[in-house]
Amino acid sequence: MKKDTMINRLMPAVTDRDKPLGGIRYYAQGGMTCYIIRGKNGDLLIDTGLFYIHSGLEKWLEAYRIKHLFLTHAHADHDWNAAAIQAKGVKILLSERDKGLNRHYMTQPVKPTFPKYRFRNLTQWVNGSIFRSPEYKPDIYFTGSESGLLKKLGYPAEIVPLPGHTYGSAGLLSGKVLYCGDAFTALWKRPDITPHAVSIREMRSSLRRILEISPEWLACGHGLPLRFEEARPVIEDYLRKRG
Ligand SMILES: [Fe+2]
Repeated sequence: MKKDTMINRLMPAVTDRDKPLGGIRYYAQGGMTCYIIRGKNGDLLIDTGLFYIHSGLEKWLEAYRIKHLFLTHAHADHDWNAAAIQAKGVKILLSERDKGLNRHYMTQPVKPTFPKYRFRNLTQWVNGSIFRSPEYKPDIYFTGSESGLLKKLGYPAEIVPLPGHTYGSAGLLSGKVLYCGDAFTALWKRPDITPHAVSIREMRSSLRRILEISPEWLACGHGLPLRFEEARPVIEDYLRKRG
């Protein structure tokens, strides 16, 4: 399944077949994780990662029939391969609050969520302005009030707006799993608060929303899926100190 490329040697992919976690279908490589939810009429891909995971991701997708792509938000490390996937007839869903963010990172300048991320935040601004994903036009812009949209499309999931990291950041709740994009992270192989947010206030209320939902599993945009019980104390601690 995996090609023996330099990228694959430096950053090996991990999939649900290599390491099953909660029955979640995932493809993780180079710190980025994409997911699939199976539907009645086809499958839903969540996020696409950066350019260097494209060939491995495509191979993994061969076992599925992708009809829709749900972007948790329009940052390049989530939407880089969206245009290529859309060219195969896949329909893209994105929050209307992230309209115009693709290729225009600084229209939603992020702030550090902790003082220790100040320098990292500057590098995000530079990287975000340099790494501009290929242009695409979403087929469906959803709003915060369309939680039933995915059911209509045949997927056992509902959209959960989780704004803060970007204004349009959104997750999907399907059974025992909350797919949360960058509303929370497992970037450094451990549960953590996302380092950057365009609105710290909205990010905090999204964290409270995640606590309310208390899913069994949290499937983040970076890092492998984790049991929510591992994330809960990190979120509660952050809200207690900075909420
Ligand atoms: Fe992001």
